[in-house]
Amino acid sequence: MSIVYDKENQVFHLQAGDTSYVMGVVRGYLTHLYWGKRLNRYGASRRIIWKDRGFAPNPDDLDRAFSLDTLPQEYPQTGNGDYRNCAYGMLDEQGGRISNLIYQGYEILHGKEPLSGLPASFGNDDEVDTLKIHMLDELSGLKVELWYHAFHNQSVIARSVRFVNTGEENLTLTKMLSMSVDIREAGFDVLTLYGAHNNERNMDRRRITSGTVQIESLRGTSSPQQAPFMALLRPETTEDFGEVYAANFVYSGNFIAAAQTDAFENTRFQMGMNPWNGQWLLEPGQEFHTPEVVMVYTSEGLNEMSKIFHNFYQDHLIRSQYTKKIRPILINNWEATYFDFTEEKILEIADKAAQVGIELFVLDDGWFGKRDDTTSSLSDWIEDRRKLPDGLKGLEEKIHEKGLQFGLWLEPEMISENSDLYRRHPDYVLHTPGRPYTYGRGQLVLDLSREDVCDYVIESISKVLESAQIDYVKWDMNRHLTDVGSGFYPAARQGEITHRYVLGLYRILETLTNKYPDILFESCSSGGGRFDPGMLYYMPQTWCSDNTDAVCRLKIQYATSLTYPPITIGAHVSGCPNQQTGRETSLSTRGFAAMSANMGYELDLTKCSEEELEQIKQQVDFYKEIRETIQFGTFYRTKNPFEGNLAQWNFVSKDGKDVVGFYFEILSRPAAPIQLMKFKGLERDGYYKDLNTGKIYGGDELMYSGISIPIHKQDFRSECYHFRKVNENSF
Ligand code: DGJ
Repeated sequence: MSIVYDKENQVFHLQAGDTSYVMGVVRGYLTHLYWGKRLNRYGASRRIIWKDRGFAPNPDDLDRAFSLDTLPQEYPQTGNGDYRNCAYGMLDEQGGRISNLIYQGYEILHGKEPLSGLPASFGNDDEVDTLKIHMLDELSGLKVELWYHAFHNQSVIARSVRFVNTGEENLTLTKMLSMSVDIREAGFDVLTLYGAHNNERNMDRRRITSGTVQIESLRGTSSPQQAPFMALLRPETTEDFGEVYAANFVYSGNFIAAAQTDAFENTRFQMGMNPWNGQWLLEPGQEFHTPEVVMVYTSEGLNEMSKIFHNFYQDHLIRSQYTKKIRPILINNWEATYFDFTEEKILEIADKAAQVGIELFVLDDGWFGKRDDTTSSLSDWIEDRRKLPDGLKGLEEKIHEKGLQFGLWLEPEMISENSDLYRRHPDYVLHTPGRPYTYGRGQLVLDLSREDVCDYVIESISKVLESAQIDYVKWDMNRHLTDVGSGFYPAARQGEITHRYVLGLYRILETLTNKYPDILFESCSSGGGRFDPGMLYYMPQTWCSDNTDAVCRLKIQYATSLTYPPITIGAHVSGCPNQQTGRETSLSTRGFAAMSANMGYELDLTKCSEEELEQIKQQVDFYKEIRETIQFGTFYRTKNPFEGNLAQWNFVSKDGKDVVGFYFEILSRPAAPIQLMKFKGLERDGYYKDLNTGKIYGGDELMYSGISIPIHKQDFRSECYHFRKVNENSF
């Protein structure tokens, strides 16, 4: 059992991998005692020392040293003494906002039950234990259960919260975070990932000395603007060294993540649903469960943090049957044709794709309704016979005859005003009745807070998926929510619509991914605008960015790999000049950038020269040789492109025998230094053969001495090294 309860001192000690997490009950309040490196046993260290502080209010007037304002807590409330950021808020029928959660008891269970209607991590009785702590606000009857899941072999604690109204009056939850931890130290750096469409996930590291650093999404999705991730680092923490406290939200809607340092050098670390537009009415007897947060601690730097997230997501979150399967190399026609294609053109591209060894053809936007641009047809999922004279089935059969699998683009959450569905059902649009629409990419959003609209989506998408043999689906979402409201719900529930939208989406995904388990689903939101663990639970890969420029991709993929495994990161080789930046890069650099993740192609192969096609064939063959190592090996970042002119990383296969390293030098420099490429994760005393040159290197040499990279007068250059471990006696 990885959860120990010390009855005498009312202390809970969770052990997960190399981590311990400790809480204790103090005068009825659940306090946070420790989160950090694993302890064999928690004794009396870190006891809370009481001190009368000015302006710190007291629940007991006779004891001026006891105040919620200075107590390290696990799920803080507001209004009765703690002025820091609260974890939840509640409104009663009289307009009262005060509650007082008092510890009632606990349950410790083997295993982990699913969260109804929500994506969440999973594990069997031998892999994870669960602690539920029961708390109650006696006056209102609000019961709060804090759920903690300790994974035995991973340094991961997953957390969520269940609210139940056991009283007799309506209660409204005005804030319901999933995680709040009072770390009794300060001086952290806060690491977050920010960006935009075409520029997702830039790394932002800033010191927090006082006050709050907060990031959020209010866009109805997790968003490209801020990723639902935050980590607290010690100032000295690097890739390979130092403490990291990280949290990633298993949710695809609005969120907040915050770090708040108080006057006494404590840091409150929080994550959960965004309270703005995120209320929930609880009638007597009703309950609400928050989404889950995955919490990772390590004392060994950011690379170790990523390793923990990668293994955890592959083993305990992504549940597709493809999670552990080699992924096909795909070609997508979007950048080759946009909306302007004929069946003949598609088949010409597919012909070339088959010739070079590509395995899957994906037909992108423009195949349905009268969709010649973004102004029409979303939600009319019927093939356009002008473009596909033999229908989807006809095209699919012809693609399969060429030995390729067939994939299809869909954007099921959307509706065009110019569509048959809109003409029949204008009420299906997500909007506040009586208010004008706000458009995004010329389209509107379906009201997925409504059960009947979700049923319609399930039915219409099922029809498409059954109309032909479809092996892969790209599930796109190209605008954010506006005018949030629904004529379907009473005024008191209008604050629930954004979350109800996400719940509706999850029900659709749950139904379709269960119904069609053989389809490989890839999630997309104008690229990586909804790259989050919630979507990964249903769909094992995500299109990482619409920006296919290899140089930009170095940063985007580097930062994405902080939390998500390379196998989940869709990366395509596209044409030049690049359509997002106008940049010219060599085919080989484009290839190596894409090979660093889940590689595919997105260019017009019919316009490539014979020479280029030959080079693409060689890339495809090479990726097939190394993809097991890339997709299932361990990933090591060795040079950070956010910090300079270089990007470097290497992969080591699970059995340690295969090693692939990539080197990128962005701009050519006069008086350039000779660069060294140093590897990580090798066996110090092992020997490795360079499969290009036949040279043998010691693991220690590759890791500590490094290999010299020859100078080339060329921008955007790259190298790839492929080593195989050899026996000392074999050379
Ligand atoms: C946005 C996606 O990210 C692109 O790859 C492409 O599928 C377009 N949508 C199609 O509209």
